[in-house]
Amino acid sequence: MCGIVGAVAERNVVEILLEGLKRLEYRGYDSAGVALLTGDGTINRVRRTGKVQALVDALGQQEALGSTGIAHTRWATHGGVTEANAHPHFSNERVAVVHNGIIENYQSLRENLVNQGYTFTSDTDTETIAHTVNEALKNTDSLLAAVQASVKQFHGAYGTVIMDRTDPSKLVVARSGSPLVIGLGLGENFIASDQMALLPVTRRFIFLEEGDVAEITRRSVAIFDKNGNAVEREIIESSVEHDAGDKAGYRHYMLKEIHEQPVVVRNTLQQRIDETGLLPDIFGKGADDIFARVKHVQIIACGTSYHAGMTARYWLEQYANISCNIEIASEFRYRKSVVHPDSLLVTISQSGETADTLAALRLAKELGYMASLTICNVPGSSLVRESDMAFMTRAGAEIGVASTKAFTTQLTAFLMLTLALGKHNNIAGEDQQAIIQALLNLPAKLEETLAITQGIEDLAEEFADKNHSLFLGRGDQYPIAMEGALKLKEISYIHAEAYASGELKHGPLALIDEEMPVIVVAPNNELLEKLKSNVEEVRARGGIMYVFADKDAAFASDDTMRVINVPHCDGPIAPIIYTLPLQLLSYYVALIKGTDVDQPRNLAKSVTVE
Ligand code: M6R
Repeated sequence: MCGIVGAVAERNVVEILLEGLKRLEYRGYDSAGVALLTGDGTINRVRRTGKVQALVDALGQQEALGSTGIAHTRWATHGGVTEANAHPHFSNERVAVVHNGIIENYQSLRENLVNQGYTFTSDTDTETIAHTVNEALKNTDSLLAAVQASVKQFHGAYGTVIMDRTDPSKLVVARSGSPLVIGLGLGENFIASDQMALLPVTRRFIFLEEGDVAEITRRSVAIFDKNGNAVEREIIESSVEHDAGDKAGYRHYMLKEIHEQPVVVRNTLQQRIDETGLLPDIFGKGADDIFARVKHVQIIACGTSYHAGMTARYWLEQYANISCNIEIASEFRYRKSVVHPDSLLVTISQSGETADTLAALRLAKELGYMASLTICNVPGSSLVRESDMAFMTRAGAEIGVASTKAFTTQLTAFLMLTLALGKHNNIAGEDQQAIIQALLNLPAKLEETLAITQGIEDLAEEFADKNHSLFLGRGDQYPIAMEGALKLKEISYIHAEAYASGELKHGPLALIDEEMPVIVVAPNNELLEKLKSNVEEVRARGGIMYVFADKDAAFASDDTMRVINVPHCDGPIAPIIYTLPLQLLSYYVALIKGTDVDQPRNLAKSVTVE
């Protein structure tokens, strides 16, 4: 969470920093700030609460100039949303700092610094970084040496960029737990918490590793590892689209991303599968030998990615005949768990930087999993670099905080994993063929499904004044109901719960009345008759239902039930198809309610702190 941008150049860097912040705003958007080293040897700092635009407007009132600068967009952890708590933070008008992460021992650092005579002007943990570095500068002329000495005192997670008023030629950056990427320019260099921020100015990147500290000047980049040794890190040419931050004519990124799903799913399948099945080595060289030995799969993820993993468990056990557990990363990392013999650990993440998922991967390595695979959307991210195998989902940049296309590409990836593991576990020939055909038809089916938008816009009208809702599904549609409920609560702020519909009579049935809309996902599968019984249980108690159903499922609209027909689709891809109408429903309800669809309150796109 939070976004960081920094630049050292010959030219004025204000526009570069502001453009970078706009491109990172989806990561945190409660306040923003910039600090520029000016020609007269002072630091010009401007901070504003609210969106980046408030900062842009404030800077528009003055002629801000500076060829070295740092900037930040915040998602508050320590200290409320105030201008005083916005970054950059200063120490004695000399040291300026932006920071992403949490300094866990900030209370004790703060006490010591106060005893040393420092005055704190914010409630943040970040201000301790500024004062600690300032204090270290009493023993050295080198900002780099001061930062290297200071980071030894920090516990927790940080991606931080530090600027010294007395040395405008450089920025020093440090990474532990929170990602930072250096952007290489011609006679100018940059730093950011995400390459997206820097795509307008460079495509050449160095991803810092855990414990790295680096000194960046206009013409040089010097990197030191956690032991202080000078190291070379690989330069990567980015293939991420430059204009991914563009809404392409859509009103919101979320709507654009929903409509991109046929294309990005096609991209995810491309050169990985054809009529004969999976192409060789799509999970990486040697992956097939590992898969041949796998006896159990443990999936770990958070949020929407967790729902993808839940769906995958149904598929892996049903089709690939392999046992599978799924757990939320924040639970897994803090409990004692038993590792099944020959277990494959699979992490799923859009960002590849989710703090809990990353910590779970690191823990799993210690616990002795046979190998780790990540299904991830961001090349070069921490999960990709630290896993034994990586399968990229090719969804392209996802800017809307509510995850949409990342989810459907994750599910697509999991169906391919089901084929890959099933090959070694007697997958039934007809299941294998059914999955292959369904995957090949998937992009076209997604397009067909998006065409039902109009009916859903109308439906949203009936929802917008409700305070609660219940989502029901069975089998591999249960996680889809959970994902539908998550989408609705995230962007419309309507309380939504999901239940496996067989659980209704074990408690939630007590909630049913005409003020509690019930959303049902009803493909025409072997559980349909069971689901119909659950629908009748709701009807008998006066509930109002909205049923997304296959036309062959024989549901008919009446006073208590509104049926929205979803195109008929093959069993294995039904969870992917039924996701789309639920995404659209949430979107249109949020639109009617007038919420901030792309940047809903209290949330951030990438959760890089615990
Ligand atoms: O980047 P990740 O997939 O690891 O993120 C996990 C969750 O934070 C994320 O899916 C979150 O739940 C989304 N906002 C849901 O729309």
